[in-house]
Amino acid sequence: MRQVTNCTETTIKGTQPNYTGSSLFSVAPMMDWTDRHFRYFARLMTQHALLYTEMVTTGALLYGDAKRYLAYDQSEHPIAIQLGGSNPSDLAKCAKLAEEAGYDEVNLNVGCPSDRVQNNMIGACLMAHPQLVANCVKAMQDAVSIPVTVKHRIGINGRDSYAELADFVDVIAQAGCSQFTVHARIAVLEGLSPKENREAPPLRYDIAAQLVNDFPDLSFVVNGGIKTFEQCNEHLKTFAGVMLGREAYHNSWMLAQVDEHIFGQPNNRLTRTQVLNALRPYIEKNQRAGTNIHHITRHILGIAQGFPGSRRFRQLLSSDIFKAENPLKVYDQAVETLQGR
Ligand SMILES: Cc1cc2nc3c(=O)[nH]c(=O)nc-3n(C[C@H](O)[C@H](O)[C@H](O)COP(=O)(O)O)c2cc1C
Repeated sequence: MRQVTNCTETTIKGTQPNYTGSSLFSVAPMMDWTDRHFRYFARLMTQHALLYTEMVTTGALLYGDAKRYLAYDQSEHPIAIQLGGSNPSDLAKCAKLAEEAGYDEVNLNVGCPSDRVQNNMIGACLMAHPQLVANCVKAMQDAVSIPVTVKHRIGINGRDSYAELADFVDVIAQAGCSQFTVHARIAVLEGLSPKENREAPPLRYDIAAQLVNDFPDLSFVVNGGIKTFEQCNEHLKTFAGVMLGREAYHNSWMLAQVDEHIFGQPNNRLTRTQVLNALRPYIEKNQRAGTNIHHITRHILGIAQGFPGSRRFRQLLSSDIFKAENPLKVYDQAVETLQGR
């Protein structure tokens, strides 16, 4: 296990200088899931993991409510923003906005297979256009001094050979990108839904590992299907980091063990109850600002996964809380089901 002492400053041996230790374990960008409320909650459990935003399109940032899209709590650092787009000049402007807002990294989405984004030339379809991605990365890098990274697949249908993958990485690396997150399955751009595209094409960690072998000067974080710390630490023998998506969300209590199991920190002895008590003032603050409590509590159901009282906990927070006159009271009842543990 590689160990770090300070997540924002420590550089992992053998990787690029700007590749900070927090990338050893990251929580994946997930639309509708990794919003600022989930990230705040996640940060109560892990100080070191790198947290990704949901994807934000360049259109949303440049023509929408940029302030709202860029908003986050200072406690969320280290935090990376993921951008969706394929216009180099727009991406450069958005990267600059992200840097000014204090983000630690800007990531380009080259992995999302949904039709909606494909029609706008966003996401996995860009794997067929390495030079365009390289131009985007170069424009972003010229605009900012924070790391610019790329999250991609190992291929797309019709372009799924290792030679094409290596060419993709090579062209983008030549544009100056040194940090890649590889979702280790191809994306099928026609006929599979985004959900099926996270399950149906087989995981090929061996192909991602081949990239590590062939591009020793680049950093590769592996993503896809990782669920346990044993698996994380096995992958960390090969890769510069692991990125977890669904497991980190559905079984969020695992995040309380990340600092110990991945970053070599002493056991934080946190209980679920402590985490939820620490979240309470944040909920109150957001309620006062007009946020519906459900927008926050919908993200916390995973903290009770595997706990004997989890059924009641979930019922209170996903059903009873809607009917309650005082939803915070239901929140407190839900926390009580965890019996201080
Ligand atoms: C609800 C949901 C939304 C997602 N949204 C994004 C996204 O905005 N950008 C992205 O690059 N990947 C997105 N993904 C893919 C994840 O980042 C990750 O690559 C994928 O879930 C595989 O990792 P896992 O097996 O650990 O979940 C999403 C996944 C889920 C489940």
